[in-house]
Amino acid sequence: MKVFESILTLQEEISSLKKNKSIGFIPTMGALHKGHLSLIKRAQEENDLVVVSIFVNPTQFDNKEDLDKYPITIDSDLDLLKKVKCDIVFIPSVKEIYSKDIQSQSFDFGGIAHEMEGKFRDGHFDGVGTIVKRLFEIVKPGKGYFGEKDFQQLQIIKKLVEIENLPIEIVGCEIFREKDGLAMSSRNTRLTPEYRKAAPFIYKTLKKAKKKFGTKNAVKVTKWVEKKFEKHPLLKLEYFVIANEKDLKTVIKKEKNQHYRAFLAVFAGEIRLIDNIGL
Ligand code: PAJ
Repeated sequence: MKVFESILTLQEEISSLKKNKSIGFIPTMGALHKGHLSLIKRAQEENDLVVVSIFVNPTQFDNKEDLDKYPITIDSDLDLLKKVKCDIVFIPSVKEIYSKDIQSQSFDFGGIAHEMEGKFRDGHFDGVGTIVKRLFEIVKPGKGYFGEKDFQQLQIIKKLVEIENLPIEIVGCEIFREKDGLAMSSRNTRLTPEYRKAAPFIYKTLKKAKKKFGTKNAVKVTKWVEKKFEKHPLLKLEYFVIANEKDLKTVIKKEKNQHYRAFLAVFAGEIRLIDNIGL
């Protein structure tokens, strides 16, 4: 496994290896867990070379404290990546990526950017689009792997590839969960034992909502979920939305042959967790 901090040496390495080799790329912010590793495994099955980047991207954080407290575990990340036989790791500094201008480009992702996370995290998707576009330009992969854990982000990246005309295939990967159902996330390590114990309630409620959506309309299911969280002593619901997978617009009336998904964001104390489920 080779580790690079500079764009130039990374690109030299990739072009020396590339000759007809397919490259699968997984951008991450580190604090790696089995969710990230499931993306790497999928990329290894489908490509000759796998590149992982670790970069905590400042422009996608709307909250400075969240950025400052983002877990950084480079040594154990590198150990994990070595264990799973990752080929190349790119760990640039903020300066290497942004020089002096730590700012987002502004994108027109259409309606999908204004729903859910876009409503609650100002500028978040412009920051994600900026860094992913930059990393795609540096690594030049054939395929990019993204988790459905951040389903809206996955749709944003597909849109980014479309509007910027990038020659990259985007592969969406299933959510990897703890045994108790909690979606794996780098933020989970920041949960106190009390909140960690409470957190599986999130996926349990999503599964019940899925069942209810079989017979009830979206408004009724939404109200039911909101009530459930109101009664919960620890977890605070920020939003629960049932939306069409394609445009992420809140569903008013169920239609045949459409794919719906339920999304939520929950505060477990100061830690904000997101999850979703296909309906
Ligand atoms: P990060 O949160 O580190 O996630 C990196 C990738 O891993 C994302 O595509 C995310 O959806 C996926 N992932 C995280 N937890 C997962 C889980 N439990 N199951 C499946 N996939 C999971 O998302 C980001 O970083 C950043 O926004 C990034 C795309 C790197 C841009 O900075």
